[in-house]
Amino acid sequence: MDKIVVRGGVPLRGEVTVSGAKNAALPLLFASLLTQDECRLRRVPRLMDIRTAVRLLHELGAQSEWLSDDEIVVSPHTVHQCEAPYELVKTMRASFLVLGPLLARFGRARVSTPGGCAIGTRPVNIHLDALQQLGATIRQQQGYVEAEAKRLRGAHIVFEFPSVGATENILMAATLAEGTTVIENAACEPEIEDLATMLTAMGARIGGAGTPTITIEGVTSLHGVTHEVVADRVEAGTFLIAGAITGGRVFVRGARANHLRAFLEKLQDAGVLIVEREDGIEASCQSRPSSVDVITWPYPGFPTDLQAQMMALLTLGDGRSLITETVFENRFMHAQELARLGANILTRGNTAAVSGVAFLSGAPVMATDLRASVSLILAGLAAQGVTEVSRVYHLDRGYERIEEKLSRLGADIRRVKE
Ligand code: EPZ
Repeated sequence: MDKIVVRGGVPLRGEVTVSGAKNAALPLLFASLLTQDECRLRRVPRLMDIRTAVRLLHELGAQSEWLSDDEIVVSPHTVHQCEAPYELVKTMRASFLVLGPLLARFGRARVSTPGGCAIGTRPVNIHLDALQQLGATIRQQQGYVEAEAKRLRGAHIVFEFPSVGATENILMAATLAEGTTVIENAACEPEIEDLATMLTAMGARIGGAGTPTITIEGVTSLHGVTHEVVADRVEAGTFLIAGAITGGRVFVRGARANHLRAFLEKLQDAGVLIVEREDGIEASCQSRPSSVDVITWPYPGFPTDLQAQMMALLTLGDGRSLITETVFENRFMHAQELARLGANILTRGNTAAVSGVAFLSGAPVMATDLRASVSLILAGLAAQGVTEVSRVYHLDRGYERIEEKLSRLGADIRRVKE
């Protein structure tokens, strides 16, 4: 297993270009199952999770070809089976997003239920209840969901929680259902809007994507498409914090401020200078960050996927910051690793009290989940001395060659084989 070695203390300066969003590209790849025609996706990040998603499409019988470093074409006309095996779903829970498209297109699907993961139990009850309301019969046995439906029928669905994955699964399934589907309390993330944009370009009839109420009028078939994946707001936010935590100045080309409003306001409250431009966002911080309180919340609230990165910044704050994680039940594992670098964090339930310290000191630390691993890198960039982050496979799931991008900003960072 690789590890990342960082020598901190270098203010990062320069420009980095944001990749396409992992959490958009995954459902977009699976949306290709809704048609016989070729689907071309541009600005697809080359990540472990994307490779897993492509493997799953091949497992189902689809073919694909990379046309360039970030453009892939999927040919779904050869799909011949509707089972997503455990070994793929357990490595990437987003594989569960093939359920809706397979059910809508083929009338049946057998998909392993994703287990829990480091950050929470992550049940799929909202997905399954909604598919049943669309007329599917659902059986759960031997760790698999078996779903069948001659043809899905539109329904008026109210989610108990604005689940991103459930919104994506139902949105895709409803495009080929008979009649109209309304999803109330839908997730509003930009990745949902991006999926709806691609589905609409494929011939789907969708209104309200990006708002809590989405209306889908079913059609009989969808056609091929070429679509550019939306910019990754989480990667963008991560690089903005990299500039701030090192006392540097970083411009993130392609970052969209309207997808990061709550996050940018919190950064500004913490004393980070933010400049929004047509073609990206710049962050700089010449002084010690101010302490701020953060509550994560479904979009457009402060994103849970940037909570760990914000905690890293606030470990150097000039006072005490309270961070409350409302989306997942166990998303503070980075706290004890940050404490190994000298951070002073007290976690109790879903709240972490971060008392800022004057400096962090490098040490060996271990990544536990995707966003936690990058928060350790960020802290290492600011710490005095050398920080070694092990188990960086977590990192590779969600960040494309991050050490190269950070090196280009001046960081003293390298990947070594363990
Ligand atoms: C997506 O996960 C993202 N993953 C996550 O990013 C992100 O943190 C999350 O949305 C919230 O924004 C992808 O898009 C691939 P949810 P998802 O369904 O769809 C509960 C990353 O780091 N819930 O909105 O699984 C669930 O337990 C990853 O890139 C149910 O109770 O998130 C959780 O507490 C991590 N029942 C909360 O809702 C359900 O049926 C949010 O889950 C579904 C969800």
